[in-house]
Amino acid sequence: MTESAWLRGAALYQLYPLSFRSGGGQGWGDLPGAIAGLDHVAALGVDGVWLCPVYPSPWADFGYDVADHRAVDPRMGTLADFDRFLAAAHARGLKVLVDLVCGHTSDRHPWFDASRRSRSGPYADFYVWADAAPDGTPPNNWLSVFGGAAWTWEPRRRQYYLHHFLSSQPALNLLDDACFQAVLDNARFWLNRGVDGFRIDAVDFFAHDPALRPNPAAPPADEPPLKPFGRQIHVHDMLHPSIRPLLERLRAEVDRFPGRVLLGELSSQPGAAARIAAYTAPGGLDAAYTLSLAKGAFTAEAFAAALTGVDDPGAIAWSFSNHDVERAVSRWCPPGADPAAFNRLLAALFCALPGTLCLYQGEELALPQAVLGREHLRDPFGITYWPEFPGRDGSRTPIPWVAGAANAGFCAAGAEPWLPLDPAHGPLAVDRQAADPGSPLAVWRAALARRNTTPALRHGALRGVEAAGAVLAFERVTEGTGVRVCFNLSNAPARYQGRTLAPLEAVVA
Ligand code: BGC
Repeated sequence: MTESAWLRGAALYQLYPLSFRSGGGQGWGDLPGAIAGLDHVAALGVDGVWLCPVYPSPWADFGYDVADHRAVDPRMGTLADFDRFLAAAHARGLKVLVDLVCGHTSDRHPWFDASRRSRSGPYADFYVWADAAPDGTPPNNWLSVFGGAAWTWEPRRRQYYLHHFLSSQPALNLLDDACFQAVLDNARFWLNRGVDGFRIDAVDFFAHDPALRPNPAAPPADEPPLKPFGRQIHVHDMLHPSIRPLLERLRAEVDRFPGRVLLGELSSQPGAAARIAAYTAPGGLDAAYTLSLAKGAFTAEAFAAALTGVDDPGAIAWSFSNHDVERAVSRWCPPGADPAAFNRLLAALFCALPGTLCLYQGEELALPQAVLGREHLRDPFGITYWPEFPGRDGSRTPIPWVAGAANAGFCAAGAEPWLPLDPAHGPLAVDRQAADPGSPLAVWRAALARRNTTPALRHGALRGVEAAGAVLAFERVTEGTGVRVCFNLSNAPARYQGRTLAPLEAVVA
């Protein structure tokens, strides 16, 4: 067993710091607030925290546009606060993974500042530059995930640069040796500070076809997709075979620090299961997640397919919900069903899965998706596609800590939260749920405790996966003991192996 094997079977709490807790007087979360909230995290029974970006950033993409990889945004604290956060987490037995955003930077990053000025110099090839087509249009048809062309013109170089997300997030040219070495140096900076690993952002975008061939069009759909990105088959702009060797170099760097882990985020493009397998094969990542499951329907078939799509299900990380998708109870709870019953089912199912669990902040409180007016939107992705797609703000609103307090205790009474608190979240505040043995929070604590004290649930092999109508069943087995689970994912009674399961019933035996 390798030292990084601790990640397998472990549960991580995904802490999105801007919305977790404010420790200063201001209306956004920061590192002192994150430290103050760690007791709540530890009491859940998770093994660690995945801390979303706290790097200096213009916050065009709320931290995923990094302007300096080796510092903390002054609005969220200092490096000394980060060290305190790390020590406070470790003192509670919690590991800490930080986000490593290495596929792109902010356009305010000094590397980009240098690279955009001139075609020569040490940073000239740190980004993906290409000449215009003879008629002045971009080099090819590639599109940005967030809308529009994936290319923006830079007058000083008289060239286009590539960006898969916002135009203010230029893509790094990771196949340039000096660039990738600089990325590894940044990783080493945080490893030396004592982090236990990284959540690697947007792995599928790390490399593209060097010949910049255009993507083919997707087959026509009955209804044209909302986002033009959905009109192409993404065979050339992403998912390139040279990604795996890059991950191997990252692995080799991380392995100089025993026990440190790599958790990758993969896109929802077709073939995600095969990519989980390829990227987590020995010498690569420890685990990887894709949001394809979370973006699809809540069906036994979908779960069975996700569980059996990878030879080694221990390499799968599960993210039922996160800062990029709608909250689970709003997305998956069947119409007319009792959200409390749905939460019990979700917790039991999540905690029975093989591999790594990523529990997004607020899911332990069963928060529904916050409803925001157009005037409150901050996410540029949502602003582009509103109202058909309202963006990701609704799953990023502040955590309610104290029921009845101003700003639900998230930030000082006189401050204006960076995203409004949903009034429906107030009664679901941490303090109220912590005092109620029947609360969603109590359900999550109990489900995680059962996983932690049942070796088969945490480490057992997966057997007998079955989707029988609305019922998902499987077994987790280890050294002679096993746990058989079955879940009725529908809001109607379901028959399974001669017995009737109540709507949304979970059986873990
Ligand atoms: C992050 C997103 C971000 C994108 C671009 C991701 O996959 O999770 O929040 O917008 O990368 O960095």
